[in-house]
Amino acid sequence: MVISAIQSHIRSIEKNEVLYEEKNFDKRIEAIDFIEFHIIDQLEDLLQKTTAPDELHLLKDRAEKIKTKLEEIDSKLFQKLRADIRSVGCAGNEFKAMINKYIDLDLSDSQHQQEAGYDNLDIFINGLFSLQAMPEQTKELELEMVYYQKTPARVVFEMAEQVSLMQEDIFFDLGSGLGQVAILVNLLTGVTVNGVEFEPAFCDYARDCATELNLPEVKFINTDARQADYSEGTIFFMFTPFRGEIMQEVLAALRKESLLRKIKIITYGPCTAEVGLQGWLSPVSMKDDNMYKLTVFTSC
Ligand SMILES: C[S@@+](CC[C@H](N)C(=O)[O-])C[C@H]1O[C@@H](n2cnc3c(N)ncnc32)[C@H](O)[C@@H]1O
Repeated sequence: MVISAIQSHIRSIEKNEVLYEEKNFDKRIEAIDFIEFHIIDQLEDLLQKTTAPDELHLLKDRAEKIKTKLEEIDSKLFQKLRADIRSVGCAGNEFKAMINKYIDLDLSDSQHQQEAGYDNLDIFINGLFSLQAMPEQTKELELEMVYYQKTPARVVFEMAEQVSLMQEDIFFDLGSGLGQVAILVNLLTGVTVNGVEFEPAFCDYARDCATELNLPEVKFINTDARQADYSEGTIFFMFTPFRGEIMQEVLAALRKESLLRKIKIITYGPCTAEVGLQGWLSPVSMKDDNMYKLTVFTSC
């Protein structure tokens, strides 16, 4: 991009009133992305090569100012939505309608993906739930424990739609990380949710987030999933939190629970294959080789 093209892009973003309307979150994401990865990157590149940097510095400042202005609109929007959830409460269809004002919630695509693919809904949910930067891990994971990675938000929305949850269900997210699945499931369905997480800093973060949104039915338990109390659980979600022996131990604990009441296990990612080998569980839908598709198992 030559300087005149950069100037023209900056001018058109500056003047584009649509971007400054609160509702146009999608368009702002595109604009922020373009400023960051095309305009600013390009200017930094040019700055390395020039002997007359003044004009480039001015353009870079201008681009950064627009980016900050757009980000502030999002940040105010999230503050407002958090306050609404906290004070008025906003669950189920109301919560979906609130999100649908800003993001297209068409769920038809995500079940065909071959990997955990993220999109604008994730950026929106990250903004809505994230109050602080992601905390540092304080405990070393054991070999079979899987490091933190989020379930794509769209997959959680799909789970809430596909799996019929009753008000008396108690949903567990095993390896709940920063708490996004647990919080979303509660907001989307109203059921009580427990997250079980090995890393204390992640657990604290998730608790702060649930408290900020005033969600007393979302709890986070800081323990190893092998030691957790599952005596109240009816639905257990796993986005491959662990493998091998740990997985076998946790599944044995869940099997014990299944002798007392019917339970469901919902998997996402590579753990689906491991869970699928359990003779006491049957998949609700046909077997599918795509591991990045939700699979629901019920106890026999
Ligand atoms: C792939 S992430 C999934 C995070 C979250 N469930 C989600 O889908 O957004 C796996 C999480 O499991 C946690 N974990 C790994 N082993 C664990 C164990 N034995 N007990 C509890 N949590 C564990 C990790 O710290 C990590 O946060």
